[in-house]
Amino acid sequence: MKKRIVGVIGAGHVGAHVAFVLGMRGIADVVKICDTKEQKAISERQDLMDAVMFMPHRVEYVLANYEELSDCDVIINALGEIELLATFDRDDEMAFTIPAVAECIPKIMAGGFDGIFVNITNPCDVVTDLIQKLSGLPANRVIGTGTGLDTSRLVSAIAQQTGLDHNSFTAFMFGEHGNSQITPWSLVKFAGQPYEELAEHDERFRFDRKELQERAIKGAWITFAGKNCTEYGIASTGACVTDAILHDKQEIMAASVKLDGQYGESGIYCGVPAVIGQHGVEQVMEYTLTAEEMKDFKECCQKIRTNIAKAEKLLAK
Ligand code: LAC
Repeated sequence: MKKRIVGVIGAGHVGAHVAFVLGMRGIADVVKICDTKEQKAISERQDLMDAVMFMPHRVEYVLANYEELSDCDVIINALGEIELLATFDRDDEMAFTIPAVAECIPKIMAGGFDGIFVNITNPCDVVTDLIQKLSGLPANRVIGTGTGLDTSRLVSAIAQQTGLDHNSFTAFMFGEHGNSQITPWSLVKFAGQPYEELAEHDERFRFDRKELQERAIKGAWITFAGKNCTEYGIASTGACVTDAILHDKQEIMAASVKLDGQYGESGIYCGVPAVIGQHGVEQVMEYTLTAEEMKDFKECCQKIRTNIAKAEKLLAK
């Protein structure tokens, strides 16, 4: 029986929680913990092994260096310098994450890795783009959590206001996993019915669009203000993408994927709904957006291009 092997780069707040969720949800059989801070990796592994008895299936947590990740089906990248997010702008983490990713990806590929990358590291869309370029893997096998996490924040806010389960409606955040992302309200539907039609006779569906979008965009900073990190939402998002890959779920979810003409955009990673399955990105979904939504989305894509250019300058130094 082939074991499902997942590597986690970075044993900090996010990486450690991803490793925990992978075990608690029975997603992986082996989780390889990789961190340059050796004692941190050792300690997180010990703590995780202490929880294995309570997990639905036996999970093996092992320590690994970059070259030892070669047999992973999925590698989740969660390296970062969380203190840099104190500005509440994910772009500011670039100064650390771009060089760090540029250093580790070649080592991982030299070890023979031939699986799928799931990137969490910020700025997510830019780092995911860099991983795809440095790894040389086809774009479908390099995915970022992107607006998948922001979508969970939007969905949670809508569920709270309507009192309906999050499985009863669809809503997505589009664009960068950053402050310029948008909510295409034309796509917010309850069992296929546009929410505006429901709002005509039910006040639960009278959404303050600006307020709900702000909650999706700024939820991270509410968490960060008291914890100096975020953990549960992002760890669950990374584990959810990994689960869809390892179990070939063919599931539509918002993620940072490479656009190849969809929405009139090409050559950048950006958060849009995509089908995730055993091959990684199985299909990028292309929905009809209103003219205003398309304008805002394109402004967001331009922001990502600007940051990709900044990342290239950082590496050229
Ligand atoms: C957040 C971080 C992971 O949005 O960017 O929680």
